[in-house]
Amino acid sequence: MDRPLGRHPSAGGGRGGRHVHRDGPQASRRRAPGRSLPSTITWSEGGRRPVFAGQLTISGIVYGAARWGAAGYWVDQALAGRGIAPTALALAADHMFGPLRLHRLEVAIRPENRNSLRVVEKLGLRREGLREAYMHVDGAWRDHVVYVLHAEDVGPAGVIGRLS
Ligand SMILES: CC(C)(COP(=O)(O)OP(=O)(O)OC[C@H]1O[C@@H](n2cnc3c(N)ncnc32)[C@H](O)[C@@H]1OP(=O)(O)O)[C@@H](O)C(=O)NCCC(=O)NCCS
Repeated sequence: MDRPLGRHPSAGGGRGGRHVHRDGPQASRRRAPGRSLPSTITWSEGGRRPVFAGQLTISGIVYGAARWGAAGYWVDQALAGRGIAPTALALAADHMFGPLRLHRLEVAIRPENRNSLRVVEKLGLRREGLREAYMHVDGAWRDHVVYVLHAEDVGPAGVIGRLS
């Protein structure tokens, strides 16, 4: 089953539409329940049927006194530059701060990844600082810059409201 997490207001009506769906039960079984929220991103344009556009996962979800989760994402390069990742991240953040009642969203980005830095800049995440050798990527331990958003930072329009 494919359960929608959210849908951008521009979806349908002839304009492009961005949707985020929770992955089905097979994907859920591969991960500890409640600790990870894997999603697929679909995109539709000009009334055509949606196509698979990428993935977004909220992982490392911790409840109790922490109530945080970390986002990772990618978008098909053939569809890059359409604002798909910022929209997907905004929808996922609103799901975290809404139904999941989490408090802190974190995104760790390699300093040279300018495209991903633009994604968090567009949503107004705060730069928290550099974590040295934070993750093993492409054969080496890489520094990452951590960006955060807290539930109380978000107004009534939600994180999606931060996109024009
Ligand atoms: C980072 C990534 C998710 C951005 O997704 P996206 O849907 O293209 O995001 P945006 O549309 O907001 O584009 C972000 C920036 O990418 C750049 N870009 C890259 N390819 C582009 C293209 N073909 N056309 C236009 N802009 C492009 C632009 O500089 C853009 O910034 P701008 O809107 O200020 O011009 C995507 O590039 C990706 O999947 N990269 C590889 C995986 C990755 O780095 N994941 C994040 C790990 S932290």
